[in-house]
Amino acid sequence: MDEALLAWFDRESRDLPWRRTRDAYAILVSEVMLQQTQVERVVPRYERWIDRWPTAEALAAASSADVIVEWQGLGYNRRAISLHRAAKHVAEHGWPADLTVLPGVGPYTAAAVRNFALGEDVLPRDVNVERVERRTGHVFSASAAQALMDLGATVCLARIPRCSECPLAAECPSVGTRDEPARKQSRFEGSFRQRRAATLRAVAQAPRRVSEVDPEVVRSLATDGLVVIEDDVVALPTY
Ligand code: ADE
Repeated sequence: MDEALLAWFDRESRDLPWRRTRDAYAILVSEVMLQQTQVERVVPRYERWIDRWPTAEALAAASSADVIVEWQGLGYNRRAISLHRAAKHVAEHGWPADLTVLPGVGPYTAAAVRNFALGEDVLPRDVNVERVERRTGHVFSASAAQALMDLGATVCLARIPRCSECPLAAECPSVGTRDEPARKQSRFEGSFRQRRAATLRAVAQAPRRVSEVDPEVVRSLATDGLVVIEDDVVALPTY
């Protein structure tokens, strides 16, 4: 199955900017952005980020406020703080042998960096990769990682897989079947996440008095290091 997949990938691979580098920092930035944001939205933001902070040292030297503002619109802003802290760790101590000691780096992201940057023989399994493996009943090799991500994102879709376009259809036991509808992502409108995003945007424009903002939301932003509260004023962190 790996050969059929890789032959398809030779023809159909998406040209994505993080596929043109083996720099561990750049790969880490891309994977953290891709954790919860779609590829098309990530591409321009990734390019801007790498232009602005091309190395872990450059990002480590940036202020948290600048990092938070640059992240605006990507969602799940905690990821920006984690990435900033990870860059500081790398700038101070170098890359750790176990990448999961870095803030915001779990087993998936660690495996992605090890494969795409370091060339190690580990397959990063995100939801798309897991779905293709489950549906085909095949365990793919590490060299199939990028191909699996493209297949999962463009052909082996969860709800309506495009089996007629799939290079694995002839060997796939799940051909023609679709997955049970997954639980939908909960609504963003009116959610606590939306209130957090709106409050962070307001504070990024200008510091606010605590009385002007939602206290519960501000407390949760402060816990994540996205804002600081001092003398009754909420502001972006200055460190
Ligand atoms: N999603 C997560 N990592 C990815 C990658 N490297 N390429 C495309 N989509 C991804």
